[in-house]
Amino acid sequence: MIQTNFAFEFSSVLMTFTEFLSTIYNEKKGQKFWLVDKQLQKAAYKPWINEDFEFFDFSENQKTLAGLEKIFDLLDQKKIRKDALLIGVGGGAMSDLLGLASSLYSRGISLALMPSTTLSAVDAAIGGKNGLNFKGKKNQIGLIRPADYTIIDMALLKTQPEELFYQGFSEIIKYALIHSSEIFDLLTQNTAHSFYLDLDLSQHLFTLCAQAKLDIVSQDLFDTNIRKHLNFGHSLGHALELHYTFSHADAVGLGMIFSLYISEIYLDLEKTHRITLKQLLDKFKIKSHFPDSFHEDIPEIISKINYDKKNTATHLDFIALEAHYKPKIIRLTLDKISKHLSKFSHEYSI
Ligand SMILES: NC(=O)c1ccc[n+]([C@@H]2O[C@H](COP(=O)([O-])OP(=O)(O)OC[C@H]3O[C@@H](n4cnc5c(N)ncnc54)[C@H](O)[C@@H]3O)[C@@H](O)[C@H]2O)c1
Repeated sequence: MIQTNFAFEFSSVLMTFTEFLSTIYNEKKGQKFWLVDKQLQKAAYKPWINEDFEFFDFSENQKTLAGLEKIFDLLDQKKIRKDALLIGVGGGAMSDLLGLASSLYSRGISLALMPSTTLSAVDAAIGGKNGLNFKGKKNQIGLIRPADYTIIDMALLKTQPEELFYQGFSEIIKYALIHSSEIFDLLTQNTAHSFYLDLDLSQHLFTLCAQAKLDIVSQDLFDTNIRKHLNFGHSLGHALELHYTFSHADAVGLGMIFSLYISEIYLDLEKTHRITLKQLLDKFKIKSHFPDSFHEDIPEIISKINYDKKNTATHLDFIALEAHYKPKIIRLTLDKISKHLSKFSHEYSI
């Protein structure tokens, strides 16, 4: 019997644009091709302008097999070879699509991601999860393959409208609850607007978050253990996102409120954490109240939790908090969650 060891070497690198240019980019001899979110067409910031580049519509509705095929067509037209470096510029839809396209094209080409939204800088562009939506199910087709480089460039992130800038803060609040006192202190000690105005402050915050995600995923790339903690607020969040067509930020914010409620029941967490969470969500203009119809909607919401790929047919690995920065996986049946949601819906206002 021949046994082959397919041990995976995790080699994703987080860097600034200056570091990227002075090392990887300028030293690269082969082809370099930029694919840029078309919303950046009018941006004053455009480092790709003298390079080989194309704009592409990287919105959520392009996360389909048809969208993927359009990217393959472009790579083919450009005669992209196996040794090429693809540089993707955009939000989470871009990193999800190009993560998959770069993994499949020529059986894998190098990828550098330049996130242009807060959410992608602190979350989507790190950790290698990519994917397409399929038959109404989010991220149903995809794989895990980290980009070679993730580049945090505040000049690019500053091109976001202020509202989009704040949307990524629900994931930042998640790190502040489950992972890092430094992130928590930064969020509580500064106003929302100061992060938008002060690029050094937001660069510090975003880099801490990106580093936190990189630390976690490098210990558990394939999501069997500690990486599951990053799902805090997301099991209910994804179902709310589907049911109400809420933004990811709003849905995860509400999901985190319910996760803390569950933590109070199973792990004796004090309610003060839920009050602090609500204050943080309000500060960054993220939804902190459930819709009036929430109680009647519970059966349908539960059926949408069922679609979540992270669970078995009857159980859910629910991420709760034992204490601040101490997430814990608790296994709950969907029936139990339904009962808790029903009780919660009567008393969620805090
Ligand atoms: N793979 C992961 O680990 C992971 C994690 C979180 C989210 N995601 C995915 O990320 C996606 C959401 O990402 P997102 O919030 O960045 O949204 P997005 O990528 O859909 O971008 C939102 C909108 O903003 C536009 N845009 C992007 N950058 C801009 C800029 N600088 N200025 C103006 N407009 C800009 C986009 O064209 C789009 O219309 C979802 O598909 C979600 O599933 C993936």
